[in-house]
Amino acid sequence: MPLSILQISDLHAEPKGVLAYGAADTASRTKEIRPWLRSMSEKVDLIVVTGDIACDGNPEAYEIVRRTLEGLAAPVAVLPGNHDRRSTMRRLLGPFIAPHTWSEERLDFDMDLGGARVFGLDTLVPGSHTGALPAETLARLEREIDRDPRPALILMHHTPAHSGMPKMDEPFGGREAFLRIAAKRPNIRVATGHMHRAIASVTHGVLITTAPSVALGIELDFGEEGGDAFRLAPPGYALHRLLDSGEWATHFGAMPIPDTFAGPYRFKGVVNPHED
Ligand SMILES: [Fe+2]
Ligand SMILES: [Fe+2]
Repeated sequence: MPLSILQISDLHAEPKGVLAYGAADTASRTKEIRPWLRSMSEKVDLIVVTGDIACDGNPEAYEIVRRTLEGLAAPVAVLPGNHDRRSTMRRLLGPFIAPHTWSEERLDFDMDLGGARVFGLDTLVPGSHTGALPAETLARLEREIDRDPRPALILMHHTPAHSGMPKMDEPFGGREAFLRIAAKRPNIRVATGHMHRAIASVTHGVLITTAPSVALGIELDFGEEGGDAFRLAPPGYALHRLLDSGEWATHFGAMPIPDTFAGPYRFKGVVNPHED
């Protein structure tokens, strides 16, 4: 049976009246995507928010996100990014924390959607811009992949794919082990965030996509500083469609909300929060 999974990413929500990195009104953006999200939620089976939900783990920002995500027609699952705090997410985004988490502290999940399995992996390393998957999570993922041959979509914030933009291409803890597991079958797809651009890359035989941001479009730049600046751009999304054939097709798009394309602006004052 065909399935559609909507992925949105990198909202970088700030409290009302605070501009993210001095330039982007992400509180307003988080509010203004609500009508589009409501209408799309009627057409998809699941919505996954792949991290950098708040810009610095601020509770007021999560409240704004909660109001955008509540009351949608499809279930919603959230994953943390390097700008998030797990404890604050648990407290304020409780209804969107998938129930089948693999551990008390972390926010990994797996879901059975009938025709496919969906895994959400928590790559957050508090206080760090880079991500990692610990050995226990990788072992659990491998067991789940080995016992069930159905198509699988693995979602997470950080990406093992490289973009060619030097400031965005960083180490990813557990990269080789993860890619070995994801390469086990051709019906496994990996969908990530963090790059703020729509990118597809085959890495060690695994097709990895990265979703565009809801708020900040990273400037295309392959020079030395590439990846360190953004523009105000319309909100993007990725939609992963499982076809009757068991293959995945990923559609990238922009929500019909105009923006000025002002910029580029530097990412100044970046915060990768520690836990409280
Ligand atoms: Fe981000
Ligand atoms: Fe990120």
